[in-house]
Amino acid sequence: PAADAARGKQIADTVCAACHGADGNTNIAMYPRLSGQHPAYSIQQTLAIKAGQRNTGAAVTMRPLVENLSEQDIANVAAYFYRQIPKSGETNPKENPELGARLFRGGIASRGIPACMSCHGPGGAGIPGNTTQQESTVAYPRLAGQHKSYIVDQLRAYQSGLRGNTIMGDIAKRMSNEEMDAVGNFIQGL
Ligand code: HEM
Ligand code: HEM
Repeated sequence: PAADAARGKQIADTVCAACHGADGNTNIAMYPRLSGQHPAYSIQQTLAIKAGQRNTGAAVTMRPLVENLSEQDIANVAAYFYRQIPKSGETNPKENPELGARLFRGGIASRGIPACMSCHGPGGAGIPGNTTQQESTVAYPRLAGQHKSYIVDQLRAYQSGLRGNTIMGDIAKRMSNEEMDAVGNFIQGL
């Protein structure tokens, strides 16, 4: 059945809002913003957290809260957050915004770091992907406006393997802490 965003809102209000914000635009820096996020990606990640496949300490706190949600309700709540208007943060001009912009737009070819925007889009909006069973494609997450500290936490998790993903693992292993901070600061203001 098609996703029901109204039912998704009920779940969001009772279960998710405390951490992610009622409209998915939480200001608590350790929790990701979910507003405007592509449903195919949100569904895939919620299922991964439910299955214990994201092993940061923070993901483990969310796990029991989604343990009893059905796949249909996971799709319903993803549809609700997707429809909420994303809010941007700010890029701190004192935290290396030039390096962040350079990485995001061009990568560092000599070290095999690709441009983030080649997958996450020039404005950080990501690429929607597709959840239909006939043609299921990868969704590239929206990053624009996401909290810097969450971005950096995830890059470190990919680097250490706590969050498994071949593409992002290869990229994060080539990045320094300074570069992660700079690109996180830039993305927060997109
Ligand atoms: C991450 C959905 C409730 C804490 C995520 C992500 C999704 C999601 C889709 C992945 C975001 C991304 O990869 O960009 C939901 C839904 C909820 C819910 C649908 C309600 C049914 C909660 C609650 C908490 C929480 C109540 C706090 C206790 C977190 C944390 C992460 C996360 C800490 C990041 C995990 C990490 O660092 O790997 N959530 N969430 N979530 N959520 Fe939730
Ligand atoms: C996920 C950052 C380049 C493909 C992510 C996430 C971050 C990120 C922070 C997690 C998003 C979230 O939890 O909401 C970056 C940065 C890049 C970069 C800073 C440049 C240095 C790329 C490139 C590709 C790519 C070039 C494609 C070749 C993906 C995919 C995911 C992802 C497929 C989802 C992975 C998963 O399921 O865990 N990226 N990215 N990224 N990125 Fe990138």
